[in-house]
Amino acid sequence: MAKTRSIDVPSPASVSNTGGPRIASLHICRVQTRIRPLVVLAVLSFCLMILQPGQGMLCLLRLQSQKSCLFVPHTIEKGFDFARLENLLQVVPSAVELEEWSLYYTSQAHFAGQGKDQGIWTKHKWEEFGIPETEMVSYKVFVGNPVRQRLALLKLLDDVELAPELLYDAVLIEDMPEDDTSRVRTPAYHSGSFTGNVTGQFIYANFGLSQDYDDLEKAKVDLKGKIAVVKYGEVFRGDKMHTAAARGIIGIVLYTDPQQDGELTEAHGYKPYPDGPARPSTYIERGAVEHFGGNSSGSNPSVDGESIPSIPVSYNDIIPILTALNGNGPRAEDMGERWCGGGLSHKGVEYHIGPSPPRIVLNLENQMEYVSKEIYDVFGKIRGSTSEEEVVILGNHRDAWTAGAGDPNSGSAALMEVVRSFAVAYKAGWRPRRTIMFVSWEGEELGQAGSEPWVVENQSWLSKVAVGYLNVVVAGAGQKFHAKATPLLRQIIHEAARAVQSPVLNSKGVTILDQWGGEIGTPGGGDAIQFLQKACISTVDIGFSPGPVDPTFPYHSNFDTFSWINSTGDPGWNYHLATTKVWSIMAAHLVEDPVLKFNATDYATGLTSYVEFAKKKLADPSDFDLSPLECAIAEFRSTAILFDSYASSLSALVLKENSSWGHKDIARKIRALNKTYMSIESRFCYQEGEHESEHVLFRESPWYQSPPALPRLLESFESKNWSQAIFSSFPSVAWNYELVDETAGG
Ligand SMILES: *[C@@H]1O[C@H](CO)[C@@H](O)[C@H](O)[C@H]1NC(C)=O
Ligand SMILES: *[C@@H]1O[C@H](CO)[C@@H](O)[C@H](O)[C@H]1NC(C)=O
Ligand SMILES: *[C@@H]1O[C@H](CO)[C@@H](O)[C@H](O)[C@H]1NC(C)=O
Ligand SMILES: *[C@@H]1O[C@H](CO)[C@@H](O)[C@H](O)[C@H]1NC(C)=O
Ligand SMILES: *[C@@H]1O[C@H](CO)[C@@H](O)[C@H](O)[C@H]1NC(C)=O
Ligand SMILES: *[C@@H]1O[C@H](CO)[C@@H](O)[C@H](O)[C@H]1NC(C)=O
Ligand SMILES: *[C@@H]1O[C@H](CO)[C@@H](O)[C@H](O)[C@H]1NC(C)=O
Ligand SMILES: *[C@@H]1O[C@H](CO)[C@@H](O)[C@H](O)[C@H]1NC(C)=O
Ligand SMILES: [Zn+2]
Repeated sequence: MAKTRSIDVPSPASVSNTGGPRIASLHICRVQTRIRPLVVLAVLSFCLMILQPGQGMLCLLRLQSQKSCLFVPHTIEKGFDFARLENLLQVVPSAVELEEWSLYYTSQAHFAGQGKDQGIWTKHKWEEFGIPETEMVSYKVFVGNPVRQRLALLKLLDDVELAPELLYDAVLIEDMPEDDTSRVRTPAYHSGSFTGNVTGQFIYANFGLSQDYDDLEKAKVDLKGKIAVVKYGEVFRGDKMHTAAARGIIGIVLYTDPQQDGELTEAHGYKPYPDGPARPSTYIERGAVEHFGGNSSGSNPSVDGESIPSIPVSYNDIIPILTALNGNGPRAEDMGERWCGGGLSHKGVEYHIGPSPPRIVLNLENQMEYVSKEIYDVFGKIRGSTSEEEVVILGNHRDAWTAGAGDPNSGSAALMEVVRSFAVAYKAGWRPRRTIMFVSWEGEELGQAGSEPWVVENQSWLSKVAVGYLNVVVAGAGQKFHAKATPLLRQIIHEAARAVQSPVLNSKGVTILDQWGGEIGTPGGGDAIQFLQKACISTVDIGFSPGPVDPTFPYHSNFDTFSWINSTGDPGWNYHLATTKVWSIMAAHLVEDPVLKFNATDYATGLTSYVEFAKKKLADPSDFDLSPLECAIAEFRSTAILFDSYASSLSALVLKENSSWGHKDIARKIRALNKTYMSIESRFCYQEGEHESEHVLFRESPWYQSPPALPRLLESFESKNWSQAIFSSFPSVAWNYELVDETAGG
């Protein structure tokens, strides 16, 4: 008997009254209406759209409005060609200025809700540089202030009347180097965490993943009413909190195990910062545990499945706690491969699971106070000269957990230099083809609390006019260049990385692209998430982050100071500078190239690799038939290749024949082409009724992660829920038909 699952989906007519017959004749891949993972539909829809560049394209072009277009090659006309612009973007930014901006931003606390002064300062600077239009927009948010945090290891006494014996009181703050001038000292807490004061036996739960708790339950470790000690890593910290709560855990302690630092650890003989590259033992990673808004005041921590109090601690603080588990319960390494590798063995930690003996308990106290605050986003704009409004947006967030020299103010310093470079060009007479917008967000650390409302408010405008969103969180905190982007932006990222000299020492003549290799991760990262998920705009996040041989990056800790960057993270500021240039040049291409250098074939390549990855996650390939999806992608690829070559022929025509610039026909074709390119990303977005839209290929992820694409498909593979993928795609059936109607009906 065939093992392949199949489930009948409703016929198109029963899903949409407007779809119907037209579809059947347009099906290319002849996908049986049997197994249809979410994406098939999105992919197919695009297949249909750019099908047969011969006829299809004509039909598409005809779809576009026939307004007469003011198609003026302004930059060339004014003697300000792309080469001159690019040259300015390379020579204007300077290490000296970057250092100055970094020093300014990191000199005072500027968490979400504390950023008004720095917002005003940023706006004034941009005006001083010569940016013609600036604006500051504010939003109200709820910000959780830490009131009291405590983590104590206690021994309960026989006489319950007596106060327990205090075995260890966690320090909960970093031990800063004496010569670090930073005065910012943020307490150890999680934003969006829950107020609670819990006392109980504790367990060690590895990374705190569902699988980890499954393993524990299999080993008959009682989870109910316990406090869990969990390592950072693998997934978003907020997921750890929710997973724990759902298992009956009453409180969660998150710590950074040196295991995640690979070779560069004290155990391997490296000295910690400031004497060497290893992670300081008092390093604490703060961060949000809720995805959005941070308005989670006063839930009851004792209710199963609700959220629970959490606290971040250093590995120094966890050593006495984990050693108290030695000899209690199974050993972590007996639980399986995933449980091995803890990096504190040399400190006497044996990584036993526990639970701790009945009298040895943890007291976790987390008192939060939620208050209403204003956050301030700063916008700068140079208007484009195209007849239709088109916008390229560059953004970085300003708010920081601590001094924030790496995250995010290395990006803020870079943004200042990007803005200054474009302002210099503007003052020299350059006028952009498309509008370029710069944004300094506040509130990203609360779950993009500054970009979220702005994107939502302007969603319909954005999805019409935004060409792309280019984000930088961390510009220079290591030597490894990263780009997290939708495949559509690959060419532009490569082109910009090819134009900039590598900042790696002694690498004359080597470009960033050479050094980096060009591999692009799945998109996401800070405020880019909002643009990608809510407005379905192509996004990229770039920067230099720590590679395997770089000093550990003191992400979200009090060590992330100006002194750390200036001495260790990016002495010389060359990585900041390189990010600045790549960022500007990417923007310049998106703003200036008459034919957008988007590449649909790259999207096909991306899709193929995503499906290949998903396929490997199937324990048994016959469990689920991926061939309809692969077929759709193959179709997509062949039309994409034709479409891209049509684009490059148009592009070549524009470059060769000056006379054709003013030619109405070519202008119209380019306009249509740009529109089609811009619409590709939104074909992968799906919005159900009043729900927020989502990109079907990518999931939300924290800045430092690039989780695999096709999240829903992977989830359903993992849970072997074969109907889930299919059922979750039902709503997009209706959506898909509307789309085809729109295309065919035009
Ligand atoms: C929190 O719980 C601990 C242990 O039960 C107790 O000593 C402490 O007073 C409590 N704190 C508050 C603010 O109630
Ligand atoms: C936040 O929560 C408080 C208390 O539940 C509520 O009064 C307030 O309206 C909420 N604010 C927002 C912005 O949702
Ligand atoms: C974004 O939306 C707000 C609120 O509707 C509006 O005031 C603002 O002008 C919009 N911004 C842009 C750039 O259109
Ligand atoms: C940054 O480091 C350089 C080189 O050590 C030093 O000359 C400079 O004074 C430092 N900058 C600040 C603001 O301390
Ligand atoms: C699009 O990308 C493909 C694959 O990377 C490449 O072969 C092709 O030349 C690109 N097309 C254009 C117009 O850049
Ligand atoms: C195109 O324009 C450029 C700059 O204005 C000029 O130098 C060149 O000679 C022109 N080429 C043709 C073929 O007209
Ligand atoms: C495409 O580019 C042309 C030339 O710059 C411009 O006139 C047109 O408005 C653009 N369209 C879009 C949607 O980007
Ligand atoms: C499979 O997923 C669907 C939709 O999310 C859910 O309703 C159903 O309960 C799941 N089935 C199993 C066996 O988990
Ligand atoms: Zn951050």
